[in-house]
Amino acid sequence: MKLTVVGGGSTYTPELIDGFARLRDTLPLTELVLTDPATDRLELIGALSRRIFTRLGHPGTITTTTDLDAAVDGADAVLLQLRVGGQAARLRDETWPLDCGCVGQETTGAGGLAKALRTVPVVLDIADRVRRANPDAWIIDFTNPVGIVTRALLQAGHKALGLCNVAIGLQRKFAALLGTDPTDIHLDHVGLNHLTWETAVRRGGPGGEDVLPHLLATHGDTIAADLRLPRPLLDHLGVIPSYYLRYFYAHDSVVREQRTKPSRAAEVADMERRLLALYADPALAEKPALLAQRGGAYYSEAAVDLAAALLRGAGSPHQVVNTYNNGTLPFLPDDAVIEVQATVGPKGATPLPVAPVDPLFSGLMANVTAYEHLALEAALHGTRDRVLRALLAHPLIAQYEYADHLTDDLIAHNREHLTWA
Ligand code: G6P
Ligand code: MN
Repeated sequence: MKLTVVGGGSTYTPELIDGFARLRDTLPLTELVLTDPATDRLELIGALSRRIFTRLGHPGTITTTTDLDAAVDGADAVLLQLRVGGQAARLRDETWPLDCGCVGQETTGAGGLAKALRTVPVVLDIADRVRRANPDAWIIDFTNPVGIVTRALLQAGHKALGLCNVAIGLQRKFAALLGTDPTDIHLDHVGLNHLTWETAVRRGGPGGEDVLPHLLATHGDTIAADLRLPRPLLDHLGVIPSYYLRYFYAHDSVVREQRTKPSRAAEVADMERRLLALYADPALAEKPALLAQRGGAYYSEAAVDLAAALLRGAGSPHQVVNTYNNGTLPFLPDDAVIEVQATVGPKGATPLPVAPVDPLFSGLMANVTAYEHLALEAALHGTRDRVLRALLAHPLIAQYEYADHLTDDLIAHNREHLTWA
């Protein structure tokens, strides 16, 4: 079984390798290929990855190459975890929207649109090359913004699913709070990527008892503090939002904070420098503790689970994925990409039925779906007008004065990545 990681030179890769090594019975890889245009990082991370495999006794080979076509040749699955423009572009995404008092975030709002515009054409080119090399290969997209990128892939007819670690992270957290094993916890997880709510926390599986009211009653303060949202908000919602909802429910206070504190991109850039220094130590053969400070906790376990389900019908029977709506949420178009629990196997993902969604959540989902549709139009076909339409449709921007200003900013800060600008 061969798996290729595009963006293999990422500082996240040791997280992935650690998961592949520990969970090798679930996903028995024989060959892992890391590909990345950044040669120096690729070699450094390739060497550390081999040391991790050796230490944990994984028999598979790990190779590195900058040649994408060679890397994907014969791959059963290709995992996309690239970042067009690197942390430098992310830093800009997190900064210029603040000019208009709008949140500066890598996947939400105007910054997220900029990321989509830079990323979609690159990912589609990679996917075409994967399909040429092996039309049966699965593409697993962890590249943000996952909802828009997955929609681009599916619309172009690729065999793809989108992956995010928000759901698995909450599952682990709730299991710990309830003092039970994560496999005992099934979340009713509904929404779009980075716009999701846990509407039930079930014990034992999809039909199991809903302990969300009990969880909120006993650990509501801890959960609210973790999400950095007011506890009464959780009580009003009656469900648990993901931490990305903070950019909506507490937008202005996030902006105030962003204006005074170093950006997440700056923090991550600093962490990356320290991580790369650690990775260069030939005695290091495990993922360092510092990596846990990145947002990608449990990413490797979710990736292993998904690849195992797609490639060999193994792994958890139900997994949270990004895929076509196809009637699951009746208030959204069929070709919207949603993030929900699904049954996953070699034929792909089939969303589990979702209970009727409160308008308190469905309205925002519908609004952001419309934005994502327009964002993809802009990413695929360019033009200033399409960028403006996407920003006008975004619930966190909407005002013409802001949308007009941010359109110019977005184009000015991303010209080198936009072929049409
Ligand atoms: C979570 C999200 C990812 C995102 C990451 C950012 O894992 O699900 O989509 O890329 O956080 O983490 P970072 O450490 O880069 O801020
Ligand atoms: Mn994510």
